[in-house]
Amino acid sequence: MVDRILIFDTTLRDGEQTPGATLNVEQKLLIAQQLARLGVDIIEAGFPYASPGDFQAVQGIARVVGTENGPVICGLARATKQDIAACAEALKPAHRARIHTFIATSDIHLEYKLKKTRAEILQIVPEMVSYARSLVPDVEFSPEDAGRSDPEFLYQVLELAIEAGASTVNIPDTVGYTTPAEFGALIKGIKENVRNIDRAIISVHGHDDLGLAVANFLEAIKYGARQLECTINGIGERAGNAALEELVMALHVRRQYFNPFLGRPPESEAPLTNINLKEIYKTSRLVSNLTGIPVQPNKAIVGANAFAHESGIHQDGVLKHKRTYEIMDAESIGLTSNQIVLGKLSGRNAFRTRLQELGFHLTEQELNRAFVRFKELADKKREISDWDLAAIVNDETQHLPQAYKLEHVQVSCGDHALPTATVTVLTPEGEERTDAAVGTGPVDAVYKAINRVVNLPNQLIEFSVQSVTAGIDALGEVTIRIKHPSGVVYAGHAANTDIIVASARAYIHALNRLYFALSKEETAAVKAM
Ligand code: KIV
Ligand code: ZN
Repeated sequence: MVDRILIFDTTLRDGEQTPGATLNVEQKLLIAQQLARLGVDIIEAGFPYASPGDFQAVQGIARVVGTENGPVICGLARATKQDIAACAEALKPAHRARIHTFIATSDIHLEYKLKKTRAEILQIVPEMVSYARSLVPDVEFSPEDAGRSDPEFLYQVLELAIEAGASTVNIPDTVGYTTPAEFGALIKGIKENVRNIDRAIISVHGHDDLGLAVANFLEAIKYGARQLECTINGIGERAGNAALEELVMALHVRRQYFNPFLGRPPESEAPLTNINLKEIYKTSRLVSNLTGIPVQPNKAIVGANAFAHESGIHQDGVLKHKRTYEIMDAESIGLTSNQIVLGKLSGRNAFRTRLQELGFHLTEQELNRAFVRFKELADKKREISDWDLAAIVNDETQHLPQAYKLEHVQVSCGDHALPTATVTVLTPEGEERTDAAVGTGPVDAVYKAINRVVNLPNQLIEFSVQSVTAGIDALGEVTIRIKHPSGVVYAGHAANTDIIVASARAYIHALNRLYFALSKEETAAVKAM
């Protein structure tokens, strides 16, 4: 039995189900490596049977991150033999591998989705859990839509799963429907009515449709839940999953409140999770940049305003005594106080050293590219902060294959001018093409000019600019989403002191994602045009 809370990160599985968040294998590996540094106990790396790309990603993460001292690497599988076999195969290189198998248990899912009876579920669950156990020693079972399942039926299913060898039983509130009191009562009921529950860890999984996922998990801990399934920045299907950073910081800041539920004296200082808090902010930025899903400014813990005090009364209070309005320090999640670290005269060594201190592990090639960007930035911006460095590094290590490359962008605009843009783009065939367009504004003109060269059908559905630091010379980070006529969404992200350049580069990123995702036939058709 565990005497602390296990953190199961599903950013790479449930988080990747966010529309437009598709990550390539290299990007998933980068995130998994950072999750290991963050100290998560289990990484759900993907759904191997879902696609060859997912299989490869799980296998790669199992090989590179699933080392002796690394986290448990987990793969998702429906309760079918093919899914479970593919999952076990992908997980083979991991030192500690877990198969997470699931099947729905709510009547609505049984009747309309699975078209199966309760009796059939009671037969499938033990069969598939023992099959998974014959392949790996660590098996987790989830009754999907547990939050809306009949508790009596749920108890029966869980008992059979544990009997068949599941060492973790996960209770998902799949549609984010339950309230904290109801979810707590559900866990209490499981603890009291599942005969063999002491042989398994109770885990919780929940979506944020009503904004209650984190609150539900915290309530569940009181009744015996010891594993939390969550994602960085709370990304995931629909309204997302419970946010890792919010759960971890709630358990840290309010440890005196939670300690007794884990049988500890309230004043115990022993951490409730294994998370290295100082890696939280960096992980949040990496996931946001690679998935192209921006973090809202007022997001708890990692939002740009999470530690900002705007009103005079608050500022005055904080100056008099920090704890008047601050319940935690920005430094605790790895944020520096925006200190000036490097400038125009800083050399390569200072740059490399600072990046190492910040915990960025770059290849020689990435370091070279980032250094060039740093020098360019230092020419325009006198003071380079840790936040700027993080933005540069994340921009230069996106690991997106480039089919189209932006060579040049120029705009002219103003209150009496027609916004006009000229762009030069290197095509996948190595041809340099220049074109121009007018638009309703400078960004519109740039996107129209790029469209004339790239010619991939899409609609811009989201565009956001965020400044990395304060000040007129700040780097601007642009995040966009485009939608292909098939309905699939692709994200793009870029940072530059010139937001028009950042906008153009973010668009090219998204177009490259779209280009590589298109079927071979479709790509060939585009080339022939
Ligand atoms: O939300 C859900 O029910 C899931 C399961 C696969 C655990 O993601
Ligand atoms: Zn889920």
